[in-house]
Amino acid sequence: MSSASRRDRLQPLPTPPSSPEEGVEEGVDAGSSEQGGGVPAPLTSLVGRECEVGELGRLLKRADTRLVTLTGPGGVGKTRLAVQVATEEAATFADGASFVPLASIRDPTIVAATIAQALDVPVAADREAVEALIDRLHGHERLLVLDNFEQILAAAPLLTALLTACPRLTILVSSRARLHLSGEHHWPVPPLALPATDGEASNGRLGDSPAVRLFVARARAVDPDFRLTSANGATVAAICRRLDGLPLAIELAAARTRVLSPPALLARLSHRLRLLTGGPHDVPDRLRTMRAAIGWSDELLSPATRTLFRRLAVFNGGFTLEAAEGVGRRSEVGGLRTGD
Ligand SMILES: Nc1ncnc2c1ncn2[C@@H]1O[C@H](COP(=O)(O)OP(=O)(O)OP(=O)(O)O)[C@@H](O)[C@H]1O
Ligand SMILES: [Mg+2]
Repeated sequence: MSSASRRDRLQPLPTPPSSPEEGVEEGVDAGSSEQGGGVPAPLTSLVGRECEVGELGRLLKRADTRLVTLTGPGGVGKTRLAVQVATEEAATFADGASFVPLASIRDPTIVAATIAQALDVPVAADREAVEALIDRLHGHERLLVLDNFEQILAAAPLLTALLTACPRLTILVSSRARLHLSGEHHWPVPPLALPATDGEASNGRLGDSPAVRLFVARARAVDPDFRLTSANGATVAAICRRLDGLPLAIELAAARTRVLSPPALLARLSHRLRLLTGGPHDVPDRLRTMRAAIGWSDELLSPATRTLFRRLAVFNGGFTLEAAEGVGRRSEVGGLRTGD
């Protein structure tokens, strides 16, 4: 669908004509790192996600979609998917796509100012950042990606304010928890698809699985001779299954193939948190070890919910709501019942 057709269906408020120079100054061109809020260009290959990118693209093009929240555990690939979708969909928005990383922000009261800064929107001392943002974005047909919102959930009403005042704005959020806003499309990001069961472990079929493909791609980055063979295929598949298809865990494990053979790696996965460390130096600490990825979510829990999760650890392989009520206080289990 072209940007024109999206615009036609939206029937936005009248927009003042903007010159090309304005567009450059405002940094609306997705993919350019020179402009404010440019969508970052990843340094590694994207594996799989064709269906997810297509489905999200269709959702974002719908006139009744204003806010989409990608949710899921740390390292499942929310940011990676958001970047890909923004890159592919930027052209369908007349004013392009902008990407604002928020993981470094812990204070919900500075979110508007942070977005304004990322988009190169000047905020005068006597003005609220949200007003300046609305002034800039009002009339723009733009996709705004807000990455990592879970630690600033209290700022979610800001998004309602922006969407209400800017009728042609669409927001795509990545967050470990949903925002609970009116009109929010909640979109849980699944792990990468795993290969079929052991019995069907022919190498051709294993190589079709995105989880296995990610393992092989990252293993080859540290050992150019690494290949999926009939000798190691079933073990690589077992490693990916053991890691539940979680991209971050697969990347950290694959990086170990420089010193550990797949069977040695699989054997050590009984101590997953000890093994899954040593991510690249240029990614946030949160993504350098699985322990830190989980710790980031743990820190955001209330003391009561943290206690509940510790108690739930007695259930190996999942639990029912009734079982949870058996180990936790009714008030603590309430959040699980409502799906939070
Ligand atoms: N489909 C994919 N193909 C290749 N690499 C991927 C894919 N999905 C995720 N990754 C990689 O896995 C790692 C974790 O992904 P990402 O940062 O998107 O997770 P996240 O869900 O946003 O985590 P967090 O909640 O901590 O922000 C990154 O190194 C990312 O590049
Ligand atoms: Mg992320």
